[in-house]
Amino acid sequence: MRRICLKTGRWQYDVVVGSGLRHRVGAFLKRQALGEQVAVVTSPNIAKYYKADVCNSLTAAGFSPIVISLPSGERYKTLDGIRPIYDQLVRHKFERRATLIALGGGVIGDMTGFAAATYLRGIGYLQMPTTVVAAVDASIGGKTGVDHPQGKNLIGAFHQPCMVVADIETLKTLSRREYQSGLAEVVKYGVIQEASFFDYLEQNTDAILNREPAVLSHVVHRSAAIKAAIVQADEKEMGLRRILNYGHTIGHAVETLTGYRRYKHGEAVAMGMIAASRLACCMGLLSKDAVVRQRALLKRFGLPTALPPLDPNAMMAVMAQDKKVQAGAKVFVLPDKIGACRVMSVADAVLKKFLVDGEEPLSKTGGRS
Ligand SMILES: NC(=O)c1ccc[n+]([C@@H]2O[C@H](COP(=O)([O-])OP(=O)(O)OC[C@H]3O[C@@H](n4cnc5c(N)ncnc54)[C@H](O)[C@@H]3O)[C@@H](O)[C@H]2O)c1
Ligand SMILES: [Zn+2]
Repeated sequence: MRRICLKTGRWQYDVVVGSGLRHRVGAFLKRQALGEQVAVVTSPNIAKYYKADVCNSLTAAGFSPIVISLPSGERYKTLDGIRPIYDQLVRHKFERRATLIALGGGVIGDMTGFAAATYLRGIGYLQMPTTVVAAVDASIGGKTGVDHPQGKNLIGAFHQPCMVVADIETLKTLSRREYQSGLAEVVKYGVIQEASFFDYLEQNTDAILNREPAVLSHVVHRSAAIKAAIVQADEKEMGLRRILNYGHTIGHAVETLTGYRRYKHGEAVAMGMIAASRLACCMGLLSKDAVVRQRALLKRFGLPTALPPLDPNAMMAVMAQDKKVQAGAKVFVLPDKIGACRVMSVADAVLKKFLVDGEEPLSKTGGRS
């Protein structure tokens, strides 16, 4: 088992990564010395594999967990969708020292975290991520929340978990597409922060695709450690944390314009990362080779790297609604090389020209200066 200790202003908690940790969650929770009331929040398609092991572990440690089952999917990540959590907590007379356990992907994690942040003005919760996205990203950092019909994650709170327990065995039951989509965020960490990690990903693609435990454990641990270090430096996203948005500005535009249906989030991020890298290349900030390497790795992971044919004006309009926008320019995370990046604003005229020029082969254009 590998352990990361995350310290933010008021909080300190461990992120543990390893095989079979769901059998130990009861012992982990017991050490937190919180109250005896525990509710496991999950979905039927996750519960069928892991609920029994988690509940047995909790029972063996002296807890009597209740299970709150929510339907699976982003469309239930709403204020109405979390109501059943509050209803059950009230019905079972949960008190301030109670703990929620989020057993699932980012959707369950965000909803459970928000319920924990708001029930009785805040109770504890423990994250048990069961998707790659949740293990390397969503479960770490304390951003919780739900969607509003007008936009994703518009309602939320910062509320740190008491612990993150990432059992990499649970990633085995993810569909291939879901698993590979999550790898986009893993590649992101290598590009924005750690060249040696990017090298490792390149050298271990088969083992990663085959979900070999030792390699997967390293990949999740390194990714989680990078995320934790960034969150630790900037809990409320005032500065450094913005680099986590690499690939997300254009990625979100693609998701929005395709109705959040055609692509998984990671697939859109993969396209967004290559687009941002090509933009950096155009602006003379990044070498062609760094774009080629990223594209090759993402392709190996079965991820799309070319933008679909979307109207550049529509893309610009969507990006203008981004929270990070300034007049006449958009803020982008642009790599300088593999392992380092900068946050900078790109003039609308430059961005528009880039989008209109479209996908020309890099080898032919020499980076389109
Ligand atoms: N809080 C943050 O910092 C943060 C960061 C990134 C993403 N997010 C949020 O995370 C959400 C996306 O999370 P996600 O990609 O994990 O999607 P998800 O939670 O919807 O899970 C994807 C699918 O996989 C299923 N599933 C989960 N674990 C499984 C397992 N082990 N075996 C089989 N099936 C399993 C789920 O039921 C679901 O159908 C979005 O709502 C996003 O906004 C939050
Ligand atoms: Zn993301």
